[in-house]
Amino acid sequence: MTTTAPAPTAALTVERIGGRIGAVMSGVRLGGDLDGATVAAIRAAALEHKVVFFRDQHHLDTDGHEAFGRLLGEPVAHPTVPSVDGKYAFAVDNDHGGRANQWHSDVTFVPAFPAFSVLRAEVVPPYGGNTLWANTAAAYAGLPAPLKVLAESLRGVHTNDYDYAASRPEAPSEELRQHRQIFTSTRFETEHPVVRVHPETGERALLLGSFLQRLSGLRSGDSRALVGVLQSHIERPENTVRWQWRAGDVALWDNRATQHYGVDDSDDHRRVLRRVTVDGDVPVGVDGRRSTLLAPESVPDPSYGRASGASTDGGLAEA
Ligand SMILES: [Fe+2]
Repeated sequence: MTTTAPAPTAALTVERIGGRIGAVMSGVRLGGDLDGATVAAIRAAALEHKVVFFRDQHHLDTDGHEAFGRLLGEPVAHPTVPSVDGKYAFAVDNDHGGRANQWHSDVTFVPAFPAFSVLRAEVVPPYGGNTLWANTAAAYAGLPAPLKVLAESLRGVHTNDYDYAASRPEAPSEELRQHRQIFTSTRFETEHPVVRVHPETGERALLLGSFLQRLSGLRSGDSRALVGVLQSHIERPENTVRWQWRAGDVALWDNRATQHYGVDDSDDHRRVLRRVTVDGDVPVGVDGRRSTLLAPESVPDPSYGRASGASTDGGLAEA
C-alpha cells in the first residue's frame, strides 16, 4: 500500500469456490470495528456469491459476532426460541435438538424474515456436520420459461408448525420433543410469493424450503407435486456449495437468495454453531404483492431484543 489513508480493503481477497455460489474471503478480521469500505465489500460479495466464508476468526466471541452482524443490519431474535444467555447469537447445538437437516431459508414463517445470517463455528465434530447452501436465484434463472410463469403466479404458506413427524421418521428423543415444543410455542403462518424480487439486487429468487406447508389455492397433492418440481431445481448440485467446518470459521449468507442444509452425519459428536440474523424486509412478488402474516395477528415481541420483521409492519399493510 502506498497511501496513508486507511484502506484495509486492499488486502481483502475473494476467491470463488463454486460456479454459481460460494466464495472465500480472506484478509479480514471480522468484528464491529470494520471500516465502511470493508463492510461494503463484504456485503457486495455476499450479494454476488450468496454465501461467503471466512477462516480463522478465532478471536470472535458472541459480542464480536453480534457487533459484526450489526454492520449488516439490525440483529433480530428468534421469534420463539429464547436466548440462553441474553445474546442475539442463537445457538445451533446438536446436543439440544439443534439440527437443520432439511433445505430451508431461516425463519420464513414470518413475513420479514432475516436478510442475512452469520454463522460461526464454536465446536466442530471430527467428521461430518457440513453445511450446504443453494442459490435460489440461480435456480429460478435456470427454470424453463413455462415453469417461471407458473412459479411467478404461485404463493405459498410457511409455518413453524410444519410436518415434523414426516421429516423425522425416527422416534424423537426427549430433547427433540422439548425443542419442538419451544419452537412452535407461537404458531406462525405467513403467505409468501413463490418468486420473490430481491430488494437489493433485483434478482428473482424461489422462496420455498421446509417451512413451506402448502401452495395457496391448490389441493395438497397438486401442491406437493409442484413444490417437488420447483425445489428439485434448487437442490441441483450445480446450484449448491458444501462447506466443511473448522473451528473459527464464519459463514455469511444472503438468506433471501439461498437455502441451506446442515448434514446430520457426525453421529454423537458435538457440533455447536452460533447464528446472528439481521432484519429483512417483507418480500414482494413479481406482481408487486407483498407477503402477508396469516397468524397470529402480529409478530409478538420475543423474550429479549427485537423480533424478526420488527422494523416493518409485519406485512399487514398489503400494497
Ligand atoms: Fe438455518
